[in-house]
This record gives sequence, C-alpha cells and structure tokens, in this order.
Amino acid sequence: MKANSMTRKITLAAVFSATLFLATSAFASDSKAHDEHAEEKVMHVAKVPFGDPIAGAAKVATCAACHGSDGNSANPEWPNIAGQHPEYTYEQLKMIKDGSRSAPLMAGQLNNKNDKDLKDIAAYFAEKESKSGEANADTYTLGQTIYRGGNTETGVPACAACHGPSGKGNPMSLYPDIAGQQAGYVLKSLNDYASGKRNANAQQKIMKEVAALMSDAEKEAVASYIRGL
Ligand code: HEC
Ligand code: HEC
Repeated sequence: MKANSMTRKITLAAVFSATLFLATSAFASDSKAHDEHAEEKVMHVAKVPFGDPIAGAAKVATCAACHGSDGNSANPEWPNIAGQHPEYTYEQLKMIKDGSRSAPLMAGQLNNKNDKDLKDIAAYFAEKESKSGEANADTYTLGQTIYRGGNTETGVPACAACHGPSGKGNPMSLYPDIAGQQAGYVLKSLNDYASGKRNANAQQKIMKEVAALMSDAEKEAVASYIRGL
C-alpha cells in the first residue's frame, strides 16, 4: 500500500475511533447488543496491517505449553493472548524480552526472537479467536457496577471508559482487549499495577492509578465479571 493512502487510512481510523469512542462512552448504559455493534465498527475501521501471521505460525511452537495452541490458556493464572490487538501484544513482548516487565515463566522464550519475529507472533495470535468463561454469580453485580460505572465514592473510574462496554479495548490507544481474560491473571495484573510491580511506562502508570484505588473485593469481582465478557 502507498504511504500516503496508508496515512489517510490511519487518520480516518483515528477520527472514527475517537467519534465512536465518545458515542459508546455517552451511551454506556445502552443495551449490550448496541454497544457491541458500535465496537465492531471501531475494530473494523482501525485495522491496519501489522506483522505477518503466516510467518508467525512458525515461531510460536513453545508458547502453546502455557498459552494454548490457539492462544487460549487453560490455567486461570496465565493470560489468554488470542484475539489481542497486535500493537499491544508487540509492546508487551518487547518489555518481557528486555526485562522491563517481569514474567519469570517466560525466561528465555524470546531470546532468539528479533523485532520482526515479535510483530509476526503478535499478528499470529491476533487472528485467533479468544474464548471467555463464566462470571461468578455471587459477585456479578459488584463486578458489573465497577466495570460500567466505577466507584464514585473512591474515585475508581469505569473500566468501560477505556476498555469499552464489552471489553474490546482500543488498538489506537494501546488499550488491551480484556474480554474473557482469565480471572486469576486479571486479578494478578491489578495487584501488580497497584503495587508498582508492573509500572515501567506511561501506559502502565494509567492502570496503576486505577488499580491503586480499588479494594480487594472490587478487584476480585471485576476480574470475574471480565472473564464472563
Ligand atoms: C512456561 C509458561 C509460558 C510460556 C512457555 C510462554 N509464556 Fe507468555 N506468559 C506466561 C505468563 C505466566 C505470563 C503472565 C506474566 C505476568 O504475570 O504478568 C505471560 C505473559 C505473556 C504475554 C503478555 C500478555 C498480556 O495480556 O499482557 C504475552 C504477549 C505472552 N506471554 C506471549 C508469549 C509467547 C509469544 C510465547 C512463546 C514464544 C510465550 N508467551 C511463552 C507464561 C508463559
Ligand atoms: C484511562 C484508561 C483506562 C481505564 C479507565 C482502565 N484501564 Fe485497564 N488498561 C489501560 C491501559 C493503557 C492498559 C495497558 C497497560 C500496560 O501496557 O500494561 C490497561 C491494561 C489493563 C489490564 C491488563 C491486561 C493484560 O492483558 O495484561 C487489565 C486486567 C485492566 N487494564 C483492567 C482494568 C479494569 C478492571 C479497569 C476498571 C477498574 C480498567 N482497566 C480501567 C487503560 C485503562
């Protein structure tokens, strides 16, 4: 694709995405079906080529042991990486590789991977379908309240404001897709942000501010709610 037409596409995508973002925020209480429809449009418009998924397929053999052969992990403590925005996955892989994000179980996994490999791997998993699970019925109402509206008393913002009403995130802003993410991993991530363990860059500092305001009960409830999205 020619550079100038690419730039136009990206600019258009940014405008569309910003507009729809405002629209979805303003009507966050609308029906789920409506919200999902709006988000699908964002995803469609914002899609730009990133890495080569076919080349990526040859570089992921060792990942399956923990993340599943299709990017859906079988362990609630280990993240699903299927269907994730490739831009976000690529950023995380770079940080895990250079050690600025701690992931002890992944030690050595990325040693012989270059920058193109990381993009291809990100593109490969982006094309896989992510699977969700069941939210805990006992904490569903609290989880949904926090997710959609935050906690006005303590200042916790609504997760939906950045991750979208159905958890699909926003690739233009590197807001990850968290729909259906493993609950144990979400809880661990919230604790790691709050404690500063995951605090290497400006993106992570956004989540530190969010997570530091949350009670343990709120973190657990919202993690379970997200698993069910
Ligand atoms: C032995 C288990 C194991 C293997 C093998 C492994 N991972 Fe991981 N991976 C993890 C764990 C555990 C985490 C979560 C780290 C944390 O707690 O923050 C993780 C995190 C990630 C993340 C960040 C996910 C997110 O949502 O932020 C990506 C991306 C990732 N792994 C990709 C890979 C790729 C690609 C491979 C293969 C080259 C791989 N992993 C191999 C266990 C593993
Ligand atoms: C102002 C925007 C914003 C708000 C509000 C927000 N997030 Fe995030 N979230 C982010 C960004 C940016 C990241 C990526 C941080 C990084 O790179 O580690 C993120 C990452 C995450 C992750 C890690 C995902 C992964 O795959 O590792 C989880 C879990 C998460 N957010 C949950 C929440 C929850 C729960 C709430 C509501 C209580 C929330 N977020 C509110 C912007 C936001």
